[in-house]
Amino acid sequence: MSLLGIIKGTRGASGFGYASTAQEVTQGIDLTGKRALITGVNSGLGFETARVLAMRGCHIVGAARSEEKAKTACEAIGSNTTPVVCELSDLQSVRRCVDTVLGHDAEIDLLICNAGIMALPTLQQKHGIELQFFTNHVGHFTLATGLLDRLSETARVVMLSSYGHTLAPKDGIEFDNLSGEDHYSRWRNYGQSKLANLLFAVELARRFSGTKKTANALHPGVIRTSLSRHMGWVSNAVYAATGVLYCKTVAQGAATTCYVASSPAVESVSGRYFVDCNEAASSAHGRDGELAQRLWGATQDIVDRVLAEA
Ligand SMILES: NC(=O)c1ccc[n+]([C@@H]2O[C@H](COP(=O)([O-])OP(=O)(O)OC[C@H]3O[C@@H](n4cnc5c(N)ncnc54)[C@H](OP(=O)(O)O)[C@@H]3O)[C@@H](O)[C@H]2O)c1
Repeated sequence: MSLLGIIKGTRGASGFGYASTAQEVTQGIDLTGKRALITGVNSGLGFETARVLAMRGCHIVGAARSEEKAKTACEAIGSNTTPVVCELSDLQSVRRCVDTVLGHDAEIDLLICNAGIMALPTLQQKHGIELQFFTNHVGHFTLATGLLDRLSETARVVMLSSYGHTLAPKDGIEFDNLSGEDHYSRWRNYGQSKLANLLFAVELARRFSGTKKTANALHPGVIRTSLSRHMGWVSNAVYAATGVLYCKTVAQGAATTCYVASSPAVESVSGRYFVDCNEAASSAHGRDGELAQRLWGATQDIVDRVLAEA
């Protein structure tokens, strides 16, 4: 077997690894009576995560940017679903989503912050904040903090981060350049947004301490989805040519999310980072509790300002 074949076949302490699929890691887990809110339910990893959790009996509150996308995805997943609209780059939309979910009068057991954008070629902003940071982090921060009181006693919050968090600026989060105007790089700024997702889980886990709720972050692997739509044709051509060496299938890509969201083995694991269905080391910034607390405060300030402007 080739070295790559050995790596792909390797399983970690959990008994799962790179090649495990979402169906495999949830085999035998009964999620009947549980309720999962998943952002980005209409595409890629979000759809597969929803499909497999629903297969295990979970009710899916499927969030997408438009009613049509949410409804179409939920219909494809099955009848045990509720579509909701959540445009993460519009905090009014996120607040409406929160209000809709609060109006359902049912607790959320699994909150899966999955939606994301990557590698925008030029600087784009929302409310003066760089758009990847705003969408991937500020939008999810608003959603998750808005739903904290509606989480069940043993709720799990799962943040889709990325290995890309290691591409973040050398100080981790550039608090004095969240606009991106001093300098912008599509990958560094994507990395910053994914580091922010990771740090959100770290700080939320700290706030959850003493409870049975957990918050974790993960890298799903490299999977060919529409996430690469902004990468440009050269990068996409290289990706297409070489991806066979390292890309996971979507079924494999959703495995770590489903594992962290549902496995009894990690029911009391919190504030950690997972890769290939196993705990892994994040960057030093990704383990920096002080940075995580500072980011929480700075993000709350952004949310308060944006909502006050509306
Ligand atoms: N694929 C990979 O290799 C990889 C690697 C590391 C991490 N990740 C992470 O995994 C997550 C899922 O990615 P994916 O590969 O499944 O990508 P995808 O197929 O492009 O799915 C992304 C989802 O996010 C939604 N989205 C984008 N902008 C949004 C916004 N402003 N408001 C609400 N929803 C929005 C998209 O909706 P539309 O369809 O309407 O645009 C789509 O449903 C992302 O957070 C990504 O950073 C993926």
